[in-house]
Amino acid sequence: MKLTLRFALFAFAAVLSVPLSAAEETAPRLLVIKAAHVVDPVSGTILPAQAIVIENDKVRSIGPVASVAVPAGAKVIDLGDATVLPGLIDCHTHVTGQPENFYEDIFRKSPVDQATTSHLYAKRTLTAGFTTIRNVGADNYVDFALRNAINAGKLAGPRILASGPALSATGGHGDLNGMSPYVRFEGDINGIANGVDEVRKKVRENIKYGADVIKILATAGVLSEEESVGGPQYTLEEMKAAVDEAAMWGRKVAAHAHGTEGIKLAIKAGVASIEHASFIDDEGIALAKQHGSYLVPDIYNDDYILAEYSRMGYPDKIIAKEKLVGRTQRENFTKAVKAGAKIAYGTDSGVYPHGWNGKQFRHMVKWGMTPMQAIQSATTSAADLLGWKDRVGEIAPGYYADLIAVKGDPLADITILEHVAFVMKGGEIYRNELTADPVKQFE
Ligand code: ARG
Repeated sequence: MKLTLRFALFAFAAVLSVPLSAAEETAPRLLVIKAAHVVDPVSGTILPAQAIVIENDKVRSIGPVASVAVPAGAKVIDLGDATVLPGLIDCHTHVTGQPENFYEDIFRKSPVDQATTSHLYAKRTLTAGFTTIRNVGADNYVDFALRNAINAGKLAGPRILASGPALSATGGHGDLNGMSPYVRFEGDINGIANGVDEVRKKVRENIKYGADVIKILATAGVLSEEESVGGPQYTLEEMKAAVDEAAMWGRKVAAHAHGTEGIKLAIKAGVASIEHASFIDDEGIALAKQHGSYLVPDIYNDDYILAEYSRMGYPDKIIAKEKLVGRTQRENFTKAVKAGAKIAYGTDSGVYPHGWNGKQFRHMVKWGMTPMQAIQSATTSAADLLGWKDRVGEIAPGYYADLIAVKGDPLADITILEHVAFVMKGGEIYRNELTADPVKQFE
């Protein structure tokens, strides 16, 4: 039986791979984008009057309009006086969900609800100008399914580097705390893992089902009911095991860490990035620099949590934890910027509504970055953290044709990045308020 099935599959594959004749092959899709200003995060400058030649989903060349020949058969899209930037990258998202009500989200919804709505959030993220995201934490593998459907061209969404369930200690930030011991969610696929052996096994399991990156919860958190907001929750040994196992499979590790001590342990264990980094001290900043670890500080969402979470029924305990974190995190962000630590843009979208990802730029500038540094954090630096430096984060030959355009100069007013007017991902238009060219349609 097994053999017959294998043969049938083989025969089917053979039919599928019959080569097309030369005439049947489609010619490359050629496009030229012209723009009066292009932000180049590599040189840290704005290039005037550029033409970008795009072949299928990649950039073929870029140069001054006067020196670029429009290839025969190419369609030209002139974005006029707009400013073009590489597609933005958010290194910390939770695109599969968004809070509506604390108890209803937990008890009246299931992973199926997440799976059926996450495409809306993916589209909002993309059309806000974020053409790539690193999704760090989603139970039940909803993120893998979403990523796969986007990659297959079935849905509009950003490129997704997905982690699956975040590894958490029992009672830690990724566990459901504060409930009766009899409350269980049958069949829940989560990231609970204790001790080096379980940690290694969970890393393997996540990778088996589709993880591109591993997320670990190194310390306590805000939006969870354990006592502390920054207490360490994994030992150095457990985190080393996670990093070592992930590396064996060619994956990097992102560590959620608010607490001073847990941040240092995670850096010493070799994680690629410290998420939140709220209570990082001078020693932690120096360690991050020494190890080349990125910091991914989500310094917008304090505003949203304090404004909306009580209304959504979040326990006072959680609101009180946010009050401990918010301002200090921003002050420590300023210190890290001054010290020259590596910082990548990550917002924790899903804590606030998807599509608002650009709101963090103004905070990064207010708390110490230049507008160009903030843009670099969401392009070149983010691409470096993701391990995708060769494909996203710049507009250059061989890179994905992921680019956005805004009306005005984001270096003069960074809030312009909250209102992106044009979005292209892989040579397809997903938002266009600048020309009459249509956006890509899905059934
Ligand atoms: N997911 C994070 C946590 O629960 C959110 C922290 C939000 N607050 C902040 N100030 N960044 O720990």
